Parts: sequence; structure tokens; C-alpha cells
Amino acid sequence: MSTAGTLDHAELEASARAQIAGASSTEQLTAVEQALLGKRSALKAAKQGLGGLPPEERREAGAVLQEVQHRIEGALEERSRELAAVERAALLADDRLDLTEVVASQVLSSLGRGHLHLVTQTRDALEDVFVAMGFVVAEGPEAETDWYNFEALNIPPAHPARGMYDTFYLDLGEPETVVLRTHTSPVQIHLMEEAVAAARLPIHAVMPGRCFRRDTPDARHLAVFHQIEGLVVDRGITFADLAGTIETFTSAYFGPDIHSRLRPAYFPFTEPSAEFEITCTICRGAGCRTCSGTGWIELGGCGMVDPAVFEAVGIDPEQFSGFAFGFGIDRCAQMRHGIADMRVLIENDIRFLEQF
Ligand code: DAH
Repeated sequence: MSTAGTLDHAELEASARAQIAGASSTEQLTAVEQALLGKRSALKAAKQGLGGLPPEERREAGAVLQEVQHRIEGALEERSRELAAVERAALLADDRLDLTEVVASQVLSSLGRGHLHLVTQTRDALEDVFVAMGFVVAEGPEAETDWYNFEALNIPPAHPARGMYDTFYLDLGEPETVVLRTHTSPVQIHLMEEAVAAARLPIHAVMPGRCFRRDTPDARHLAVFHQIEGLVVDRGITFADLAGTIETFTSAYFGPDIHSRLRPAYFPFTEPSAEFEITCTICRGAGCRTCSGTGWIELGGCGMVDPAVFEAVGIDPEQFSGFAFGFGIDRCAQMRHGIADMRVLIENDIRFLEQF
């Protein structure tokens, strides 16, 4: 019995090892484990058979069965580890991302690399035109004192021209003394002051930058917008220099069939002052709804620097004269690209931005 029993155990163990080795997945191995160690397994049956043995044989046979069970459990565990490793490797291989492929095919072609905003491109292009004409580019602060934004520009407190500018006041110092600049004209004052301090006249500069007005945005206005200012100060500068500069710029930036004209206007910091208009870029001068049938569109203001402004910065108006101009950068982008409503410039809709 004991010899037969040993043989049975050996067979049982050999068959168990064969089944374990044959399991090719964790799932199969779980089923094999159930078959080998579960309630209806041969091992369980053999254990139950122990009860029929005489007590002295029972202990020995029981110990042998126990060892067999341990070895089967060990073999199961080992196979389980092997299968887990194989399965994990397969999972990783499946999940593997080819990052070079994602960069090449998705990021670069479908999303693109991004580019400068249309307004920035427009500012750069305007700067290029003026630099080619001999101007330098300068910048000034976005927060200004009342003096730079208004007073030095010949707009004293209570001057009716203040009504043109719906001003944002900053909560700094005395009430209503620090503003978000309503135009780029105060940069003229900084430049002239610096030029006087360094004895560095003449000045030929353009000054692009952000401006702020308490306006409700509409098709032609934004509360935060961009202007580019121009200033030339030298001996013997005349209105003809101003008109020629505006005309040269207009055709250089908008194209040879777009021209400029000056119409009398009023600005406190220039005398005489003019509004400058360009050929309507939509109808090319024929007359359309955008230009109210006139063939001309207003772009900005200009004029000869008022002697009161020269005096505010300490330049002798008897020796020097100059001209200044200022116009909207966003407005230029709008005209050049036929953008009906300026608000799209700040909505960050990628479908719009991608077109430029
Ligand atoms: N600063 C004016 C504005 O924002 C525009 C302007 C008009 C600028 C005449 C000038 C100028 O330099 O000479 O409405």
C-alpha cells in the first residue's frame, strides 16, 4: 500500500507539474490551481482517503501528501510569477508610445508650432516700414502721471479735450493723478525730455504700445488697444515733411495703390492739426459701406508739434520745429486684412488666429 501510495503521489505530482507548465496565462493557471488544490482535486480525494488507513500509516502518508501539496503550491507560485512577468512585458509592449511619432505627426502638423499674434505681426511690420525710413523705435510706460498723459501735451485739467479720452485712473497717490495711458503721445514727452537732458536732438522716433480707454468694445474699438506714435524734432521741419512721411508710409505699408490725405482737425498738442485718411482698403477708393461711400478711411491724427509742448519739455520753439502723428495698430490690421469686427482680435479663437 505504501509503495502504491508513493507511486500515486509521484504520478499525482508529475501530472500536476505538467498541468502547471502547460498553463499559458494567469487565467489558465488559476483554473489549474483550482483543479489541483480545490475541493474536487485528486489531492483532496487522497487526503480524504487517509481516513481509511491504519493510524501508523496514516501519519506517514499524510506527511507525504502534505509535502506533495507544498511542492505543487511552490510550482504554482513559480509559474504564476513567470506568467505575470511575461504578461507585464506584453502589456508594456502594447502600451508603448512612440513619442517621436507623436511630435512629428500630431504636434507639428496638426497643432503647428504657433506664431505671433496678428497685432504683434502688424506692430513689427509697421516698425519695419518706419525703421527703413530712418526712424528709431522707442517705448514708454503704460501707467503715466496726469502730467505726461495730459498736461505736458497741452491738455490742462478741465480742458474740453479730456472729454475725448475716457480715462482709467489708478488707485495710486493723490486721486486721479496716475492713469493708464489713453494714447502713446506721452512717450513723445519722455523722448523729448531725455533728448534735452542728454543734448541729443534731433529726434526721429516711432513709439508703439498698448493704450487703454474706458470704451465699450465694438466693431471698431477695443478698451485695450495699440497705437504707434511718431515724432520728428529738428531744425526746419515743415508740414510738407509731415505729409510726405505719411504718404510714404501709407504706400509702403498698404501697397502702391493706397494713398493718404490730410484734413484739418484739432488736437491740443499739435498746431496745425490734421486727421489723416487713407484710400479705403476695402473698395480701393470706389466708395463702399465701410468708408460710407467716400473712398477714404480715417487712420489717425497728426500735426506740427505745438510750441506749448516744446516749452513743457524745455525745447526752444524758435530754434526747433517738429511733427507728430499717432494711429491705431489694431485699426491697421483691421484695414489691411479686411476684418469686419475688431473684437475677434482679443477673442483668442484659434480658427481666426491661424489665418495670419
Ligand atoms: N494721441 C491722439 C489720439 O490718441 C492721436 C494723435 C493725434 C497723435 C495727433 C499725435 C498727433 O501725435 O499729432 O487720439
